[in-house]
Amino acid sequence: MRAVDLIEKKKQGLEHTKEEIYFLVENYMKGIIEDYQMSAWLMAVCFQGLSDTETAYLTQSFVDSGEILDFSNIAKHVADKHSTGGVGDKVTLVLAPILASLGVHTAKLSGRGLGFTGGTIDKLESIPNFRCELSNEEFFNQIKNVKVAISSQSPNLTPADGKIYALRDVTATVDNKSLICASVVSKKIASGATSIVLDVKFGSGAFIKTKEEAKELADLMIKTGKLLNRKIDVVISSMEQPLGFNIGNSLEVIESIEFLKGFYGEDLYDITLALAGKTLINCGLAYDDTDVKKMVDEVIKNGSALQKFKEIIKAQGGNVNVINDYSLFEIGKNKMEIKALDSGYITKLTALDIAHSAKLLGAGRDKKGDKIDFGAGIILKKKISDNVNKGDTVMELYYNNVEQSKLDEAIKIARNSFKISKIKVEKPQLIF
Ligand code: URA
Repeated sequence: MRAVDLIEKKKQGLEHTKEEIYFLVENYMKGIIEDYQMSAWLMAVCFQGLSDTETAYLTQSFVDSGEILDFSNIAKHVADKHSTGGVGDKVTLVLAPILASLGVHTAKLSGRGLGFTGGTIDKLESIPNFRCELSNEEFFNQIKNVKVAISSQSPNLTPADGKIYALRDVTATVDNKSLICASVVSKKIASGATSIVLDVKFGSGAFIKTKEEAKELADLMIKTGKLLNRKIDVVISSMEQPLGFNIGNSLEVIESIEFLKGFYGEDLYDITLALAGKTLINCGLAYDDTDVKKMVDEVIKNGSALQKFKEIIKAQGGNVNVINDYSLFEIGKNKMEIKALDSGYITKLTALDIAHSAKLLGAGRDKKGDKIDFGAGIILKKKISDNVNKGDTVMELYYNNVEQSKLDEAIKIARNSFKISKIKVEKPQLIF
């Protein structure tokens, strides 16, 4: 078998066998197949697609590239949640400590920023000294002792997804349903979770643009889970405007800490509640939504969710003082306010534009291995349906040493990312 023949086969839209998929993945991991050949195959997949069976083989090959954790002797239920990616999506940072403070063992395997979206691992690394690369043993022991750990893929857990994920990020091969499904579902299977809840996002700030495609991806993930003997629950949510107010690594962690202190916006709260609900009900800890809301509100109010976040930071070597002292974060030294040129209501706030602007400011990567600026990002002061007066600040851009041409472009995109109209629009529906 030769990689070039398999690239040709997929280019022609033909279906791979299990052996062919394993050949590609295993030899890529051994370095026998190079980045350029894997990139060509991924691009062929983007144009020709994978069948449901090929998707299941690819998912299984990612799982088989590493180990599978087994928590059965420490907990009956172990939860994991994953989002297909969005802008300002910091749900994991608040949901994981909330679940753990409610007694749910939570094994969270996360990724770095992908394409224009942010990644939990990059966000957490904005906490000084925070260590995301846990060995399987450290991950296991932390879940046993603290009830929750958030780790990047260790060399032993779905390493094939880790390597291919980084390649997809810089070869414009992210937005394919089968590739997203294999990437997400493989991590969830390897993490040993018994309750898997996925947040499939659609809209301008997601890889999937329409509700119909989101439903197809959700169905594919559920089906892949079934083929690989795992039950998967899915929430479908909109990513038309960014989630919450802060976009960028340090800024999103700060918003998450504020959330756990009880200061939150409605959209981040609602999606957190929906995902917590599915998990708590799956784990037999809640009966219905009323129950879920009471439980979640209680751990925020009594400080135990915040305390759990502190425990995560401490266990993973981070500086816990960030909880009360945000000056310990790197925040862009320069601030530029984008003002409203008219009075009225915000009717559009395009997540993709905000993401592009934040990336130009330094919050994301252009190439594999690029260093990101944790302090770069955007704080939204207004969201869709909010009232604005001429001269009000709609958003603030934070940055450090950005080339002038990139800064000019970031400002231009930010200025065009929103629309003001005299007619008020309703807050957009978030959860479907
Ligand atoms: N999140 C992942 O882990 N993988 C993807 O492909 C997309 C989002």
